[in-house]
Amino acid sequence: MLNKIKSLREEVATLTASNAEEVEQLRIKYLSKKGAVSMLMNDFRNVPAEEKRAVGQAINELKNFTTDRINELREALDSNDGDMDGLDLTRTASEIRLGTRHPLSLVREEIISIFSRLGFTVAEGPEIEDDWHVFGALNFAEDHPARDMQDTFFIQRSPDVLLRTHTSSVQSRVMERTQPPIRIVCPGRVYRNEAISARAHCFFHQVEALYIDKNVSFADLKQTLLYFAREMFDSNTKIRLRPSYFPFTEPSAEMDISCNICGGKGCSFCKHTGWVEILGCGMVDPNVLEACGIDSKVYSGFALGMGIERITNLKYQVKDLRMFSENDVRFLDEFTAAH
Ligand code: DAH
Repeated sequence: MLNKIKSLREEVATLTASNAEEVEQLRIKYLSKKGAVSMLMNDFRNVPAEEKRAVGQAINELKNFTTDRINELREALDSNDGDMDGLDLTRTASEIRLGTRHPLSLVREEIISIFSRLGFTVAEGPEIEDDWHVFGALNFAEDHPARDMQDTFFIQRSPDVLLRTHTSSVQSRVMERTQPPIRIVCPGRVYRNEAISARAHCFFHQVEALYIDKNVSFADLKQTLLYFAREMFDSNTKIRLRPSYFPFTEPSAEMDISCNICGGKGCSFCKHTGWVEILGCGMVDPNVLEACGIDSKVYSGFALGMGIERITNLKYQVKDLRMFSENDVRFLDEFTAAH
């Protein structure tokens, strides 16, 4: 039996194949159910007990050796694909597929560029945050129901570690280390514990803007908003401010723009009102300035925050939020012309 194994091993060591079909034939000949190696296994039951151990080991070794050998033959053929024989140097090169920029990146860059023309610079902060920077410093009282407005993913309770629910957290980080004048835009990803659907996702993107200096007034905010809306959409865009509530601004407002899909006439996107809400804003609450070490008797400021997906939907009419994160090339390719 051992001799038989030895001669089979020698035979396998010299195997050659010139194409995939031959490799397959060899696999069948040696390794299939009725192959030479498998047949040895059948004979194994007739081996005397005292030889079983040595023979068993030898069969196993042969089986591994044969498997490796056949794989080697297959790989050698694969790597031969670049063989000069089959090379046609006159063939036209296949087209190189250029990637496209993601619509959210395009819109984020556009928002940043509009604010940069007003003197704002980009600031970024961490996505994994603590309660203080996301809520505490922004005037969310410990037991204030406003905390429930944003369904937070907590990673750990004590010490608290959580995923930021808004980019307003970058405000607190910048203010605690910088004295005014401050003029920043903060783009980034935010997370909320929401069921995923066409209209909601557990992560999305925002841009926050913050302007703090002496004598900054609501009029400055309004003018900035109007400039932004007209640059982002078209020069006839109208804006409307509605009173609202955010813990970190007082007074607070939500801004609507005249629906740029129907031009204000009324359509399903604007629910036939002619207006669509695009952002929240307000004058920075003095409590926030003080919590971050800025003298609220000397300085005032405004802040605003918007969802990039929402602006992108208005510009490009993307119906389902999930498309932004699926990265289906057919969807992404639609934005080639927008570069
Ligand atoms: N952080 C708010 C949100 O996620 C958006 C927001 C509203 C930001 C008002 C602001 C603001 O800076 O002043 O819903």
